[in-house]
Amino acid sequence: MRSTGSTTAFRLTDAEFRMLADLLRRHCGLHFGADSRCLLEGRVARRMRELDLSSFSAYHYLIRKEGPGQGEFARLVDEVVTNETYFLRERGQLRALLGEILPELRRERPTAPVPIWCAGCSSGEEPYSIVMLGLEAGFEPGVDFRVYASDISHRMLRKARQGLYREASFRCTDPELRARYFVEKDGHWRINDSVKKHVDFIHLNLLDPSKVALLGAMDVILCRNVIIYFDSETKRRVIQTFEEKLRKGGYLLLGHSESLINLSNAFELRHLRNDLVYQRPGTPATDRWQNRALAALREEDSGGRS
Ligand SMILES: C[S@@+](CC[C@H](N)C(=O)[O-])C[C@H]1O[C@@H](n2cnc3c(N)ncnc32)[C@H](O)[C@@H]1O
Repeated sequence: MRSTGSTTAFRLTDAEFRMLADLLRRHCGLHFGADSRCLLEGRVARRMRELDLSSFSAYHYLIRKEGPGQGEFARLVDEVVTNETYFLRERGQLRALLGEILPELRRERPTAPVPIWCAGCSSGEEPYSIVMLGLEAGFEPGVDFRVYASDISHRMLRKARQGLYREASFRCTDPELRARYFVEKDGHWRINDSVKKHVDFIHLNLLDPSKVALLGAMDVILCRNVIIYFDSETKRRVIQTFEEKLRKGGYLLLGHSESLINLSNAFELRHLRNDLVYQRPGTPATDRWQNRALAALREEDSGGRS
């Protein structure tokens, strides 16, 4: 690394950049090519300044010492992930979920809530949107469906659990809907408990099989605008995980710019009235969904809360 005073730009050597990019790719699937080198350098420089470290070797020692997923490396992941999100993003798909998929799944299995997993939920706008739209559609959260929301970023999960949002999160939200489910204070909007209590937030790296194994079977998985940042090999691995976690007949909802082309043949594309979605073929199993390990996950994760 060529270190820098306030006037010189911070630079990683090619070898340092490759090593760091490789570490991030292996740990969380994020792909840093030459075009995102400046971003990575900027974030590392910021952390080094905050930690008062003058050489990259000292920083490297710190992230290796604590191990991936812990301490400074987790902090770096927080710094480099793209967290862009907002309420009711890709709304047609959410309409398909609440207006078509959920009624169908409730008819098939009327006795147990439909488990919905938001994988890569960022600061919580996506899972909270599902609960709000569910309430608007006359469903009873907790009885008709349950929402589990996970992310690799501790920082984003803290925000999600806090439930405080700025104007930018509402760029696609009608003011009436916002007024029904939020209270304004000092330029922030706080989500009502009637929505908040129906989302379980979990810290989970999609590439960590030991954590993913603790989740029970799901009827719906939303993983929107997440795999777009992964390389093909990682995308395949994550989609395979979703195939294993979804019940037969369950649905996979990806972002509008994402598809399974060249990644997986395990799903069928369904043209619903409101949007296109993927479905795992087969007849739904009739077993009641029981997520015995979720309590263990929550307990383990409670250390990550602020
Ligand atoms: C762009 S946001 C998408 C948020 C939301 N799904 C939406 O569509 O608005 C991508 C999220 O994926 C998370 N993410 C990236 N890699 C991950 C991984 N390996 N495991 C879990 N979450 C990950 C990031 O932390 C980030 O919050």
